[in-house]
Amino acid sequence: MTDFPADFLRHLKSAERVVVLTGAGVSQESGLRTFRDDPIGLWAQYKPEELATPEAFAANPKLVWDWYAWRREAAQNARPNAGHYALVELEKRVPQFTLVTQNVDGFHRAAGSQNVLELHGNIRRVRCSVCGAFADAWTDDGANVPTCLQCGGLLRPDVIWFGESLPQAELQSAVEAARICHVFFSIGTSVVVQPAASLARAAQKEGAVLVEINAETTPLTQTADFAFRGKSGEILPRLIEALTLPSR
Ligand code: OAD
Repeated sequence: MTDFPADFLRHLKSAERVVVLTGAGVSQESGLRTFRDDPIGLWAQYKPEELATPEAFAANPKLVWDWYAWRREAAQNARPNAGHYALVELEKRVPQFTLVTQNVDGFHRAAGSQNVLELHGNIRRVRCSVCGAFADAWTDDGANVPTCLQCGGLLRPDVIWFGESLPQAELQSAVEAARICHVFFSIGTSVVVQPAASLARAAQKEGAVLVEINAETTPLTQTADFAFRGKSGEILPRLIEALTLPSR
């Protein structure tokens, strides 16, 4: 017996193409904070929207660099959770599976997911803010923002800041995958930052079954065909279990 509706499982089992969109909620059970959590500690006085911008970096590069160094360290000290691993299992069961993530922590690939589109970059990568060269290593003396070995420009995380364009190849692939998928999952995202909401709605408009997994309601909940309330690290492993049970 499973607590998932039979018609939902039927749709998923017969789906040739599935897209999963994830957000910070998927990494919450790894111990990483989401963007809408109540802020705590050293960085509580700053809002992500105030630090994750080119303007903030231009005005105070050290502040922005240090914030990302703190978040990079948190990601490096954490591990993928049961939700990430369940998505690896889901990928094995679906002929064409695309995982689109807004997360910059790299956990989906670390868990073993193969077809991953990182729309907001990856916090583990660092590049020059001037010439764009990637830096494999850098020295952080704590007083200054590390600089590029090629041109001396300031280094920055290889993430997408508010106001910057998304990586075009990844975005194009995500839009195309959403347009032709049979089931579209929105998991652990508040869908307040585009293109999250538009991807989900485009998929549904083209006929996909829209499924949401979230700890809370979001602007998508009302229109989703199926909405499961709770933690992705608990719901997703149960879903994999339900998929392995013989259909009734
Ligand atoms: P948010 O922090 O906006 O939303 C996290 C969502 O996860 C919320 O809807 C929570 O209810 C839900 N949630 C929390 N814990 C959960 C759990 N254990 N299981 C399931 N759901 C859970 O994060 P995103 O939607 O990813 O952009 O935010 C999108 C973008 O806005 C980010 O990539 C970032 C941010 O500002 C940039 O930095 C450009």
